[in-house]
Amino acid sequence: MGQSSSLVYQIFQHRFPATFKGFFYFLPISLALTTLLLIFIYISTTANVTKTHSQTTLYLQTLPSLINNIDQTSNLPIVPFEDNEDDNDNLFADPSRTARLSRASQWLLGNIFGLIDGNDTNNKEAYHDGDIFLQDYKQMNKSLKIYVYPHSKDDPFANVLLPPDTDCKGNYASELMFKKALMESHFVTKDPNEAHLFYMPFSISSMRSDPRIDVHGIPDFVQNYISNITLKYPYWNRTGGADHFYVACHSIGKIAFKKAFVARLNVIQLVCSSTYFPSSYLPHKDASLPQVWPRGGDPPNLLTSQRKRLAFFAGAVNSPVRIALLKVWENDTEIFAHFGRLNTPYYEQFLGSKFCIHVKGFEVNTARVADALFYGCVPIILANHYDLPFTDILNWKSFSVVVHHIDIPVLKKILQGISNEEFAMLQSNALRVRKHFQWHTPPIDFDAFHMSMYELWKRRGVVRVRLTPSMEFM
Ligand SMILES: *[C@@H]1O[C@H](CO)[C@@H](O)[C@H](O)[C@H]1NC(C)=O
Ligand SMILES: *[C@@H]1O[C@H](CO)[C@@H](O)[C@H](O)[C@H]1NC(C)=O
Ligand SMILES: *[C@@H]1O[C@H](CO)[C@@H](O)[C@H](O)[C@H]1NC(C)=O
Ligand SMILES: *[C@@H]1O[C@H](CO)[C@@H](O)[C@H](O)[C@H]1NC(C)=O
Ligand SMILES: *[C@@H]1O[C@H](CO)[C@@H](O)[C@H](O)[C@H]1NC(C)=O
Repeated sequence: MGQSSSLVYQIFQHRFPATFKGFFYFLPISLALTTLLLIFIYISTTANVTKTHSQTTLYLQTLPSLINNIDQTSNLPIVPFEDNEDDNDNLFADPSRTARLSRASQWLLGNIFGLIDGNDTNNKEAYHDGDIFLQDYKQMNKSLKIYVYPHSKDDPFANVLLPPDTDCKGNYASELMFKKALMESHFVTKDPNEAHLFYMPFSISSMRSDPRIDVHGIPDFVQNYISNITLKYPYWNRTGGADHFYVACHSIGKIAFKKAFVARLNVIQLVCSSTYFPSSYLPHKDASLPQVWPRGGDPPNLLTSQRKRLAFFAGAVNSPVRIALLKVWENDTEIFAHFGRLNTPYYEQFLGSKFCIHVKGFEVNTARVADALFYGCVPIILANHYDLPFTDILNWKSFSVVVHHIDIPVLKKILQGISNEEFAMLQSNALRVRKHFQWHTPPIDFDAFHMSMYELWKRRGVVRVRLTPSMEFM
């Protein structure tokens, strides 16, 4: 043993001359010094960032032009922090040396030491990974099975449970369009044993308009519905409802589970009012349903339409964000912020503007994102904490501009900073993804229905424990 270890020692002695041994002492020290230096550069160059609001809102900012300008002038790889880091907004016109340095140090720290994760440089692709999505989608389309809870023929509330037999119209059509499409699709199975998910087909919008239930009766109805299926079928108890879902577009849906609180912690909510903020929606468990005002056919002249206006918004003044927008931009000639109904046709503004502003109202969601995409207008998202539809599939930065509420006063600067080439990129991606924000009867591949099914499929895969009565007390 002694011999072999001394042999190793000898080899070490021979293979590594004395100068090299010194190197082993020097290496950790030099690494430590380099790290310190880099941290110093990082702190000194980002000191002004930390003083402003932008740090808390980094992920909300989308300023492709800003990043690209900086990228060209500095010849550095683009780094994840593309925020407006300056309250006096000089940065928009002339990215300062400080900003570039700060990016340089962030890049170094991020890449060498892995201190900053995420590679957010890819703002040109409409999909995070189109190939994987396509593969997954095909798998979903082939295998996903949904069991729809039946109801008796003489159920007095069949109207709430059945899909509508007329066309779905208006602002909250998504809920009923989904049910209609699902019930006629190949995803439905009569065999609960092969089902991945269980659909509770009550419609929030039908309850709202049924005088026997009304808005106030929704929580009781849902509570009764769940206790009925819990007693009658064994499926709920296997997972506590974790493989069950319901669908709602109107935000009133968020009170649906008020009296079934524990159930709400488990069921998958496919809803339009998807926000990270209030307690009713849980991102990752729940999924965002796009709010889409159904518009038939294709609008004409999407690419050739004369988009003379920079940005457009029209709608009711029902939220602080909308009031803030009005305060700044109500008389502007390039940003047209109109409150109330337009005298001219709505679509003319969508076709005549480069950017169409989606502003949070009572809720984060409105049908304007889908409208903007439909008319080839690049959406501006002014709705903090909106869990945007299909955000795990679509790269929203490639076809929209996400702006924090606090940046309303610099909205024009942000938009003017977007070059014609960038706008063309945003718009062509908007046209690429708009098929995902449309409903069809019958549904077609990759439309809002199939995308929503895909989101549900992503949330399947619960292992179910089959309880026998004696085991329940263990
Ligand atoms: C970021 O992603 C792009 C595109 O996938 C790749 O080309 C680039 O090398 C990545 N950059 C870093 C710093 O990882
Ligand atoms: C999805 O399934 C339907 C019905 O089986 C089929 O007609 C359609 O081609 C499939 N789509 C894709 C993209 O696999
Ligand atoms: C629950 O079951 C009871 C008794 O069968 C029935 O009267 C009631 O309408 C059901 N409620 C719901 C919401 O399905
Ligand atoms: C499910 O669990 C509840 C509460 O423990 C129980 O009352 C009910 O009978 C169970 N349902 C079935 C079908 O066993
Ligand atoms: C817009 O014009 C109206 C009428 O002249 C004026 O009362 C209002 O203060 C103006 N708003 C802004 C933000 O300048």
